[in-house]
Amino acid sequence: MQDILTHTADGVMTLTINRPDKKNSFTQAMYGAMADALEQAKNDATIRVTVIQGDVTVFSAGNDISDFLQRKPMPQEEAPVFKFLRGIATHPKPIVAAVCGPAVGIGTTLLFHCDLVYAGDNAAFSMPFVNLGLCPEAGSSLLVPQMMGYHRAAEALLLGEPFMAEAALEVGLVNRILPPTEVNDMVQTLARKLAAKPMGSLIETKRLMKKGQMAQVLAQIAEEGENFARLLQEPAAKEAFTAFLEKRKPDFSKV
Ligand code: COA
Repeated sequence: MQDILTHTADGVMTLTINRPDKKNSFTQAMYGAMADALEQAKNDATIRVTVIQGDVTVFSAGNDISDFLQRKPMPQEEAPVFKFLRGIATHPKPIVAAVCGPAVGIGTTLLFHCDLVYAGDNAAFSMPFVNLGLCPEAGSSLLVPQMMGYHRAAEALLLGEPFMAEAALEVGLVNRILPPTEVNDMVQTLARKLAAKPMGSLIETKRLMKKGQMAQVLAQIAEEGENFARLLQEPAAKEAFTAFLEKRKPDFSKV
């Protein structure tokens, strides 16, 4: 699939989000491709580490807004986005992310399920779910307050305020900030360093760090998903999506 490029070398599978004309926003097919790639990485002993990257100017503008408008309700078990979210949340091997430019919505929330995150100094993170008439997803309503503290989480999730690389470093979402042109190379170097370590130890260490709240994270993803799907069908979300596509400010005065 051209919108998600997959390349494997030296035990590292690199997934490149590659839809530049739409700022790397995700379609259902792209979630499906990411989910399939992670499943393959889980089962293939020759893949030891996964890298997720965008390009130097944009990581991802989040879910495709036109796709939101057209999406038909479907059970979570069948929805590609939930296959991806469950897959990344439970992935047993290390995942390293390289983030430059805007990381909107799922572009930010997927990072809570990566093990290491390196950012360009142009990275801008945002979770504008409320501004779109939606609610958080990917377990972010649990994981963001845990990582940032409640009040900063409220700024990010209730106000939907973006935050830059320095703030992300301060709260621990990002490991290190680099010039954008150096991020992908640095991440490849680190991924190869991880891939050279004993796999059994990596998997056991990740499992032990995550097991305490894995069930809670999966339950939160499911509960957020039910409410997100309901809100997607309501007038506030329809107004927000239509306004974005018409390049105007949304008018929530009647919803
Ligand atoms: N879904 C669909 N199309 C999107 C998109 C998205 N999430 N994000 C950007 N695009 C499209 C724009 O509609 C535009 O298409 P056009 O050239 O056909 O008009 C193109 O990508 C370029 O976007 P533009 O907004 O002009 O780029 P920018 O550099 O000024 O801004 C962003 C980049 C990411 C800050 C901005 O596009 C944005 O805020 N996108 C929406 C983010 C969002 O709300 N996502 C949902 C999160 S749940």
